[in-house]
Amino acid sequence: MLNLHLRTKIIGNKVYYYSCLSSTQDKAKEIAGYEKEGCVVISDRQAAGRGRQGREWLSPRGGVYLSVILKPDIHLREISKITLLAAVSLSSTIEKMADIRTSLKWPNDILINNKKVSGILCESAICGDKLHFIVVGVGVNLNNKIESISPALLYPATSILEEVGKRHSRKKFLEEALFDFDKNYLYFKENGFEVIKEEWKRKSSTLNKDITILDGDKKITGRAIDISEEGFLILEDKKGGIRKITAGDVII
Ligand code: BTN
Repeated sequence: MLNLHLRTKIIGNKVYYYSCLSSTQDKAKEIAGYEKEGCVVISDRQAAGRGRQGREWLSPRGGVYLSVILKPDIHLREISKITLLAAVSLSSTIEKMADIRTSLKWPNDILINNKKVSGILCESAICGDKLHFIVVGVGVNLNNKIESISPALLYPATSILEEVGKRHSRKKFLEEALFDFDKNYLYFKENGFEVIKEEWKRKSSTLNKDITILDGDKKITGRAIDISEEGFLILEDKKGGIRKITAGDVII
C-alpha cells in the first residue's frame, strides 16, 4: 500500500493504486466517464506503458507512473495549456525534491542536463465539439537505473538517481507532485493561463533556438519565438512567416 498523505483540494480526491497495470492511461480512460475530476491512477510498474507518437515507455519498479483525470471547462483548442501546466508543475517537484535544475522542451518533456527525465502524455475524449475529459499521464524516471530507461529516440534519457546519485522516496515524490499539480491547476482555474505560460517560457530550452519539428512524416524548421495564448509553439521561418505549431517533437 502507498498510504499517501495528500494536501490537495482536487488532484488525488480519489486514488486508484495498483502494483502492476498495463498502462495507467488505459485504466484512467476506462473510469473517467463516471469518476470526478482529480481522480488519480498510480501503478508501481506498467507492462505496456506508452509515450507520445506511439512510442514505448519502459516502466519498471522505481519509476513514477500516474494518470490524472481532469474535466476543465476549456475549449478544445486550449488543451495544450494543460500539457504545459503539467510540465511546469512536475519540473517544480523535481527541482524541489532532487535539488537540481530542470528545463522544459516543448511541449512536455522535462530535462536534466539536457537529458529527458520525465514525459507527459495528454489524451482527451471529445463529444461533438465539447471536451469530455483529459487524462494527463506522467512518467518520471526516479530511482531507475540507466539500463531500464526507455531509449530516447531523439535525445538521451536519464533518471533522477543517475543525475543526483541518490534514491528518493517515491511516496514523498508522489505527494509533492500531486500537491504542485493541484496548486497550479487551482490557480489556472481561477486566474487563467498567463502566469503558467510565463513560467514555462522561463524554464524553456526550446525558445529562441532554431529547431526542426517532426510530426509523423512532416518536418517544419524555423526559430521558436514564443508560446501562443492557447499554449502552441510559435515558429518563425526563414522568410519571416509565422506558424503556430500544435503537435510534434522538437529537434534542436
Ligand atoms: C512521452 O514522453 O512520450 C510521454 C510519456 C508518458 C508516460 C506515462 S507513464 C504513466 C502514463 N501511462 C502510460 O502508459 N503513459 C503515461
